[in-house]
Amino acid sequence: MRALVTGSAGVVGFHLCKHLLEADWEVIGVDNFVNSSAIDQYWAMAEHRNFTHFSIDLNDAKQLEVLPTDVDVVFHLAAINGTQNFYDKALDVARSCTIPTLNLIDKFTGAPNLSRFVFTGTSESYACSVELGLAAIPTPEDVLLSIDNPKNLRWSYAAGKTMSELFVLSAAKQCGMPTTILRYHNTYGPRMGDKHFIPDFVGRALRGQFELYGYDQTRSFIYVEDAVDLTVRAALAPNLLGDILNVGSEEELEIQKAARIILEELGMGEQEIECHPAPPGSVSRRCPDVSKARRLFPDWSPRDFRAGVKQLVHDDLFLRQKLEGSSLEAGLELECQH
Ligand SMILES: NC(=O)c1ccc[n+]([C@@H]2O[C@H](COP(=O)([O-])OP(=O)(O)OC[C@H]3O[C@@H](n4cnc5c(N)ncnc54)[C@H](O)[C@@H]3O)[C@@H](O)[C@H]2O)c1
Repeated sequence: MRALVTGSAGVVGFHLCKHLLEADWEVIGVDNFVNSSAIDQYWAMAEHRNFTHFSIDLNDAKQLEVLPTDVDVVFHLAAINGTQNFYDKALDVARSCTIPTLNLIDKFTGAPNLSRFVFTGTSESYACSVELGLAAIPTPEDVLLSIDNPKNLRWSYAAGKTMSELFVLSAAKQCGMPTTILRYHNTYGPRMGDKHFIPDFVGRALRGQFELYGYDQTRSFIYVEDAVDLTVRAALAPNLLGDILNVGSEEELEIQKAARIILEELGMGEQEIECHPAPPGSVSRRCPDVSKARRLFPDWSPRDFRAGVKQLVHDDLFLRQKLEGSSLEAGLELECQH
């Protein structure tokens, strides 16, 4: 099998490529590194004999001409993510969530071997519906997608991703493209950089700062390997053609509880947490209904948050370097894996 993975140097893309290579797929990675971290590990993976990389900007249709079309599956993950970017680089974010999808649809419409075009959507597409009380929690796939105010640039990402869902479903109907939309929910794992909640909290804890903002909000986190496992299963499942699937975990945790678990896994369980309210505009609750995934794949089961954090502390080179450099090594087993 041959896959093209866009956003291959990103958090999920990297693990997806690794997973596919381990399963003996041939993998073509596409990324322009506009929003990637831990590039060294990516280039180490790129050495694999079944891996080819293209550094191109997917916003530019001309640059897609170099890509081969004889692939079985396209996994389209490239986008500019990150809450601060939604406000500071709203135009770049909105563009990255829409134009590459259109360019890829144009490129792969009618590709003879293509059995699936997978687009990665987001829970942000219905975050506004949650805030307006218009979404059930846990939230199923057929939820209302909405934005309440285009002047709130937070929605540059959500609206762009929702537009791309529409592009993909339209390509399925109008051109017979074999598509599947996966809505990811708070995926975490090694190579996350330090802007996501988990590495940010760990980094500050290691500097002796224990403030926590939005302590009473809830999130449900999925470990990247479990998200990747479901992503590949979905790409191969005939009954998900033209359909939408939540990729997440139904373990809804208060942020305060998640922070407590992280501290316990860092050997700092006794530490007091300084709780503050959430900054304005952030989403109060998030938890997907993953019963569809469980029904389709009865042996797929995402690990719980504690097991994921344990795995992260063990596997994430970036985190381990921070831990090894801190004075808090005592509670941890830091045998060198990498
Ligand atoms: N991680 C999550 O919790 C989460 C949740 C919901 C949705 N998603 C979506 O899933 C996908 C994968 O998430 P991730 O966490 O791995 O994101 P990521 O930001 O780590 O990776 C995205 C990659 O896309 C690349 N990229 C962006 N624009 C590009 C362009 N024009 N041309 C080429 N490459 C480009 C970036 O350089 C980056 O390496 C993204 O589309 C993201 O929006 C992720």
